[in-house]
Amino acid sequence: MTHTGFAPGKLILMGEHAVVYGHPAIAMAVDRGTHVTLTDRHGATGLDVPWIDDPRLTAALHAVLPAAGVGVKIQSDLPIGRGMGSSGALAVALARAALARSGAEQTDVAVGGLALSVERIFHGNPSGIDHTVSMRAGALQYHRSPTGPVFSPIDLAPLPIVVIDSNTAGDTAKQVASVAALGPSAEGYLAQIGTLVQATIPALAEGDIDVIGQAWHENHWLLRAIGVSTPTLDAIVRAANEAGATGAKLAGAGGGGVVIALAHDPAKLIKSMNQRGWKAFT
Ligand code: MEV
Repeated sequence: MTHTGFAPGKLILMGEHAVVYGHPAIAMAVDRGTHVTLTDRHGATGLDVPWIDDPRLTAALHAVLPAAGVGVKIQSDLPIGRGMGSSGALAVALARAALARSGAEQTDVAVGGLALSVERIFHGNPSGIDHTVSMRAGALQYHRSPTGPVFSPIDLAPLPIVVIDSNTAGDTAKQVASVAALGPSAEGYLAQIGTLVQATIPALAEGDIDVIGQAWHENHWLLRAIGVSTPTLDAIVRAANEAGATGAKLAGAGGGGVVIALAHDPAKLIKSMNQRGWKAFT
């Protein structure tokens, strides 16, 4: 018997890292994602077809599947470690396939619970935004509260978002731990990110790319202040601004990954970034 699950990846438009500490963030699902196929087999549960070489993967499979009898195939068009939600999408796709295999109903509570257990293996202290947006799709406003996650769909105007790949990968667990290690000295920056997110929600709904661009610019430099940017990501942000972006920021955990930018002429921005050697797409 074969059982499958799919989930899309995501981009965090604003609020990454601050969301771990209870501040609001905004994320949207993207039109790329991860498929998981489970097939019955003899012997220990494991990958049928090699995928990434990450020791956490075996623990993730064992968190949601029986120890023996399941072959797993993972197919994804999400770049790994680029802030586009590859692990959140894997967590949800795996949860959906595992629930389908056991004949259980795929409620948000069931999918979300299993996906969170996978995310904890990959990320240690995930806010939950990544797997939640992969599970719900669309765009979400999300924050952690003492009683659990609070999220609601958010109206987003169609935004001409340009994604620029730094061609380097970051490790979310490492970046989240590095912010935690800053302790109270990071609190002011994280609170400023939260305030900026709240203030930008009307512009996101209206599609005011000048206001959003300015907010992304500020969000990026606040992320830089807590140490999660890199010289390459900063260089891409500067280059995007020089090429006419209204603003740009790293998206996701940082330490590598992608920059997102807005421009009145996205095709011109993409061309200019390509000419500078960066792969860019909408
Ligand atoms: C990673 O996509 C987003 C972070 O805020 C971590 C998290 O929310 O779990 C950096």
